[in-house]
Amino acid sequence: MTTQVRRPGATGDDEGATGLPALADFALDPEVRHLNHGSFGAVPRPVLDRLAALRAEMEGNPDAWWRTLTGRIAAARADIAAFLRTAPDSLALVANASAGASAVLASLRLPRGARVLTTDHTYGAVAMGLRRIAALHGAVVDTLHVPLDASARDIEALFAQELSAGAPVALVVVDQITSPTARLLPLPGIVAAAHAAGARVLVDGAHAPGLLADPLGHASGADYWTGNLHKWTCAPRGTAALVAADDVAQDLVPLVNSWGAPEPYPHRFDQQGTQDVTGWLAAPASLAFLAERGGWEAARARMDRTVTAAQALLAEALDADLSGVRVNEALSMRLIPLSPVLATDPERAAALQRRIAAELRCEVSVTSWDGRGFLRLSAHVYNRPEEYEYLAERLPALLATAEREAR
Ligand SMILES: Cc1ncc(COP(=O)(O)O)c(C=O)c1O
Repeated sequence: MTTQVRRPGATGDDEGATGLPALADFALDPEVRHLNHGSFGAVPRPVLDRLAALRAEMEGNPDAWWRTLTGRIAAARADIAAFLRTAPDSLALVANASAGASAVLASLRLPRGARVLTTDHTYGAVAMGLRRIAALHGAVVDTLHVPLDASARDIEALFAQELSAGAPVALVVVDQITSPTARLLPLPGIVAAAHAAGARVLVDGAHAPGLLADPLGHASGADYWTGNLHKWTCAPRGTAALVAADDVAQDLVPLVNSWGAPEPYPHRFDQQGTQDVTGWLAAPASLAFLAERGGWEAARARMDRTVTAAQALLAEALDADLSGVRVNEALSMRLIPLSPVLATDPERAAALQRRIAAELRCEVSVTSWDGRGFLRLSAHVYNRPEEYEYLAERLPALLATAEREAR
């Protein structure tokens, strides 16, 4: 079955007026509905062109290329730091948020028996790394259950209570925007409570750049923050930032031991063996592209409008009750609860996601959290209401079949 999504060159509702990019500005296959920007992002064509030009230069003369890198990486770092409203010397470039979190965890000297606190919304791979590092130190990971519909005040109270009970907490690891549940966590209150209890805070802001106007302002006071440029800011993959407070920054070293090691932070992260840094160097082009094509505020407003309408539409189509999920956190990812028998664990969620992709040619995220399954919809500037309408017309039948099979 083919789709109604716009073909390259076609004009649409208001992008002519706003200048916001459309699907044709991305290399995405127009035969597929890409409703899962949150997982892997998408790179605009001009940024791919910039990346290709950088790759061609590198391949043309590798020796000359490597001689130029120090200054070019510093310039990219400065542009990315300006976008994130921080000082270039507080920001190291890393390959992804996982690498940022790993560098922080590897730098810690946790006393034996120390507590590390996180939540049950924490990104699975980061939580896994946290447990491994804690075990190496003989530390204990406590996982706070945060109900899906908890208010900001409830969440702050849960943290305050946990931080004051039992052995002192050395580190709090908290997501800024949660992956399985698309919640914006109340970082100012969490950071304040953690610091009052003497704990350091690592904020996993993987989704925050581009979705929040000022991610570091929202995470203000956190000791460490990491976030991806290759998600909502549409940079080439392998582009992420690590930002550290002055008093801990010099403890951070990249996970790859290399020639930059004797340099101070963040310069020592610039060289991690022979690696392809063309993504880092092209990242400022993606920041400029969205800024010039309608601007970030307009982009966020468009994404919010699109995903809000999509969530309501899919909830109606699936007869889903939204009363237990937050619908108004102005993020471009939204949940729709699925039948209680579907996606009850991550493997079943992944299988259902694959089935939707294969049968409907719709890329969505199916998440599983606390034994429940959710459809997690994303919207970026290139998404249009017709794509969610297409999904809403077909998904109920697919899910009804999957539900019969699961019972
Ligand atoms: C909250 C969170 N943390 C970390 C990651 C990992 O990002 P990456 O694979 O780019 O390291 C993700 C990816 O979706 C995420 O949602």
